[in-house]
Amino acid sequence: MIRVSAHVLHMKPSPTLQIKGIVERLLAEGRSVCNFGVGELNPEIRTPRPLIEAIVGALETDETHYSPSAGDPELREALSRDFRAFGLDYAPSRIVVCPGPKDALFKACLTILDRSARRNRVVSFAPIYESFEQVPRIITGLPPVVLETDERFLPDLNRLESTLKEDDSVAAVIINSPNNPSGAVYPHEFFEDLASLLSHHEEVAVLSDEVYRTVRYDETPYASIARLMPERTLYIGGISKEVSATGLRLGWVAGPASVMEALDRIEGNTSSCVHLPTQKGLARFLEADSDLGIRRGITVELQQRRDRFVRLFRRAVPAARLESPRGAFYAFPDVTGVLEAERRGAGRFASDSELSLYLLNEAGVACLPGSSFYRPGHLRFAYALSPGDIERGVQSVGRALA
Ligand SMILES: Cc1ncc(COP(=O)(O)O)c(C=O)c1O
Repeated sequence: MIRVSAHVLHMKPSPTLQIKGIVERLLAEGRSVCNFGVGELNPEIRTPRPLIEAIVGALETDETHYSPSAGDPELREALSRDFRAFGLDYAPSRIVVCPGPKDALFKACLTILDRSARRNRVVSFAPIYESFEQVPRIITGLPPVVLETDERFLPDLNRLESTLKEDDSVAAVIINSPNNPSGAVYPHEFFEDLASLLSHHEEVAVLSDEVYRTVRYDETPYASIARLMPERTLYIGGISKEVSATGLRLGWVAGPASVMEALDRIEGNTSSCVHLPTQKGLARFLEADSDLGIRRGITVELQQRRDRFVRLFRRAVPAARLESPRGAFYAFPDVTGVLEAERRGAGRFASDSELSLYLLNEAGVACLPGSSFYRPGHLRFAYALSPGDIERGVQSVGRALA
């Protein structure tokens, strides 16, 4: 019999894609489901027409050959210019284009993690996005060191400092702001403190996942560790969330030249390159959106949905605690009060995982349990739905828990 390699045996299926599968099955059975499960804007917020038209234009002019493995030169130029709108200075040669943000994260980790090296582990912070756990494991077989965040979901830098002092196996710290699943946006002062702490640990790299960089509400300014430590940061970006294009599979890594050359070798030997019409289309889209106007428009639409979700949810589930998230498009309420009340009362569910299953069955509402993100006692709602679906879904949750 053919064997599956040992490191894959430990790999968990992606919880977000699993819930997508369950919802699709229920819908096919004729059930009605409000799907707050998957972090996807489409079909509620469509991929911008200028991007689609530019991709179609590239297809029609037969731009269907290989690009250089690091990416089409026109796109790398456009990404480099676009970075300047965020106060970041990355020459085109320091950017490698990959087939999607998750793939960019995987290849960034593959470039700097080595199972046999003394430093072979990553640190990440709970609640933690699934891939920050699974991707390092695929490469080294080792789970990340998962540290806590505070009540505002900001990483606890005192804990990071003691970990780095005590544990010389740490090769990289992974951070993600705006954050999935908490919606937190880390302020500039946080990055200053992080940079100051890391200045005492020169061998430790930072992986900064910024796939939600444009989705910041309430005028929250953009801040990034890449502005403070560009030579030690591997910046992960992509179009999935930024322009509602999860299925177009385009992401990028930006970082120091020596690491990017190595990453380019991985890209050339694994994917060859990314779908060229999408690369060409994105280059032309970024030109058309050089003032970030189209992307800001998406954020305005999401902010309306955030406000609606938060207002309705607080009213419908008073036993939960929900601060208004500052970015991304997830609400991550603390439901320990709901679980406590249930323990004293009907006892229909005893954990966040049981609660999310209960809501799927009783309310027809799909959401993810906080324990999927190493933060039990919470639920994650991806609220990029129509205003009507947000209202129906939240009211249904309220009725099921009343
Ligand atoms: C923080 C973060 N990074 C990376 C990704 C990966 O994006 P994709 O699945 O489009 O590659 C996601 C997707 O949800 C995410 O939330």
